[in-house]
Amino acid sequence: ALVESRDRVGSVAVIGLGTMGTGIAEVVARHGFTVRAIDLDDATVRDARQRIEASTDRAVARDKLTASERSGILDRILFTTNLQECLTSDIVIEAVPENLELKRQVLGQLDGLVPDRVIWCTNTSSLSVTEISTAVSQPSRVVGLHFFNPAPVQDFVEIVRTVVTDDEVVEHIRVFTEQIGKQAVICEDKAGFIANSLLFGYLNHAASMFEQKYASREDIDAAMRLGCGLPMGPLALLDLIGLDTSYQILDTMYRQGRDRLHAPSPILKHMATAGLKGRKSGRGFYTYAEPGSPEIVADDHVATQDAMEVSVREVTTVGVVGSGTMATGIIEVFAKAGFSVTFVARSEDKVAKVIASIRRSLEKARQRGKIEQDAVDAAVGCITGTTALDDLADVDLVVEAEEVVLETLTFPAHFPIFLRTFLAKVLVEAEGDQEDLI
Ligand code: CAA
Repeated sequence: ALVESRDRVGSVAVIGLGTMGTGIAEVVARHGFTVRAIDLDDATVRDARQRIEASTDRAVARDKLTASERSGILDRILFTTNLQECLTSDIVIEAVPENLELKRQVLGQLDGLVPDRVIWCTNTSSLSVTEISTAVSQPSRVVGLHFFNPAPVQDFVEIVRTVVTDDEVVEHIRVFTEQIGKQAVICEDKAGFIANSLLFGYLNHAASMFEQKYASREDIDAAMRLGCGLPMGPLALLDLIGLDTSYQILDTMYRQGRDRLHAPSPILKHMATAGLKGRKSGRGFYTYAEPGSPEIVADDHVATQDAMEVSVREVTTVGVVGSGTMATGIIEVFAKAGFSVTFVARSEDKVAKVIASIRRSLEKARQRGKIEQDAVDAAVGCITGTTALDDLADVDLVVEAEEVVLETLTFPAHFPIFLRTFLAKVLVEAEGDQEDLI
């Protein structure tokens, strides 16, 4: 088979050396393949070379590569503006900007140059692979090969087949992706494939929230990074992907699916048009030390510290109302931080369950070496459970964390679910009793 061994792949050509093309060229060369890295613009080719030199330099400094491995990688990449260099390529990966006409034009131009055995891959994020594929004489040899940014780091790719793609071509590319250290999924030619279809509605929403001054960029990002455990917040991620690219992806998905979620937030177009394209241009939602740098530097939009100067009331005692999962976690957090916590549950039985659950959680943390026995005892000593709301009369701060447990409410079977949810909410808010309410 064509790509069973690297020796049998003459070389891989990567066309278009923007953020993605450069990352793809690097990852392919790092895995032992010879790469033709091609862009028609001299300056872009120079930039790409510098970025790969810097990235592999960093890897040497961090002992991830030896100096000789680094020079081997750079020797395997031919940076050029000459499309004729594709002549010996077995795999062509197109990574030019996200514009259908441009992609078709580039592929059409190469079609006469490359050997018949070539496999065409397009790194499109949202365009129809089928429409791109008809630009070459053998559409059955075209697949989508969608990388994620940063391409050398993200271990995942989507292989997109069209209705005419040869199974053999898909299999060759699947083996190739294994050889370059990626885990692949094979998907159909649907707008946004899998990941972008999910991701971009969310990123778009974050951009709109920022535009509507819902919260600061730092707070929007902190919510998703710290609250939801994502490696970066949505606005920082938009900067990484590029606001121009993100706008194009959303616009394409919106045109195809007419899903309101994908209607590009106007701010993306405005910023991209003004040259604020994100990390690559040195400014997007954040400002970076220089174009291409990941280092965020202070700018006019840094949140002010004024709020910190307002004098705050001292808090030493805390009340928590509730005994469910969230309430239990909140009680534990306050107790570990040394606050005296009184929580209110609906029954003595629930009081006991909460304390037992917190003990188990702290004990697990102790066994994992995250906390000492003294700290476990101190935290448990900070907690008092009660069934009387009056016991919170003197606390400095109350956190309401009541759960609405629908199962405990006996609504007539014909009640629609939205009505049950609504009534349950009213019930809790009114602290009423179910019979009274109904
Ligand atoms: N190029 C090459 N390597 C890079 C890099 C880049 N641009 N950025 C980071 N790295 C490497 C670093 O050198 C480092 O490598 P080692 O561990 O081998 O030394 C590693 O990645 C981790 O980097 P850092 O320690 O500097 O930073 P981090 O731990 O904060 O990770 C991150 C940075 C990898 C970008 C991480 O924040 C992350 O995974 N973010 C989410 C990225 C994401 O969601 N990507 C998908 C976007 S959607 C898409 O791409 C599809 C599309 O069509 C647009």
